[in-house]
Amino acid sequence: MTHKIIRTEDGSNSIFVESLGQSYHSSFGAIAESQHIFIKDGLQFINPISDINILEIGFGTGLNALLSLAFAREHKIKINYFGIEKYPLKMEEVEKLNYSGMIDRVDNHDFNNIHLVEWNEEIPVDDNFILHKSNQDIKNMSLRENYFDLVFFDAFSPEQQPLLWSEAVFANIYKSMKARAVMTTYSVKGDVKRALKMVGFNMEKIPGPKGKREILRIQKRYFGTKTLINQNH
Ligand SMILES: C[S@@+](CC[C@H](N)C(=O)[O-])C[C@H]1O[C@@H](n2cnc3c(N)ncnc32)[C@H](O)[C@@H]1O
Repeated sequence: MTHKIIRTEDGSNSIFVESLGQSYHSSFGAIAESQHIFIKDGLQFINPISDINILEIGFGTGLNALLSLAFAREHKIKINYFGIEKYPLKMEEVEKLNYSGMIDRVDNHDFNNIHLVEWNEEIPVDDNFILHKSNQDIKNMSLRENYFDLVFFDAFSPEQQPLLWSEAVFANIYKSMKARAVMTTYSVKGDVKRALKMVGFNMEKIPGPKGKREILRIQKRYFGTKTLINQNH
């Protein structure tokens, strides 16, 4: 895949994939988008007070991992972070990304460490952050069951990658999540909501970052008392 480094509106860089005609992040701001969808409406929403396990589908630039590391340091919690990526970036591409200078509590050393962690190994980036990166295809990988507290679903769009936004993939993720665990994603497409609902998830549309009116917050059902998120279609 041919990649081009682009500058987004908030000054942070992203990657444009020419064959897909799509970039890794919103042109309105890579950091702004990730911060809004995954940190504010995911990590901050679940408000963790101790250890948590995060799964990311589409590790890409490592931006969500870097923001999560900053969050772990700020809130003094420990995060076990599992990033799944089928097409890892080359180090010379990673070196052109400018995130660490724009995010409090992390620096370039942290960003490099995140990328230097070997694929398919589990490495402590620091006391607050254990990183496990899997160089695999989410469509046919087995995930640990009842393990994740939070999922960042950040694949390319359902138009480009319909098989990733399918019932089969969502069912695999559902099994891997603890009861009441939360997943956030940027697509509110009808087909995506239908597939999520078939698998048993609850979901709500919530306001998105600049350029995206709505995004989805999804929750695994808990068959005990009422769930935290109401269904809203
Ligand atoms: C929208 S980009 C998101 C990137 C990332 N979260 C970030 O902030 O840079 C989608 C990512 O999903 C990855 N991907 C595509 N197909 C995949 C698959 N079948 N399994 C796992 N990852 C995949 C792409 O290579 C890309 O890194």
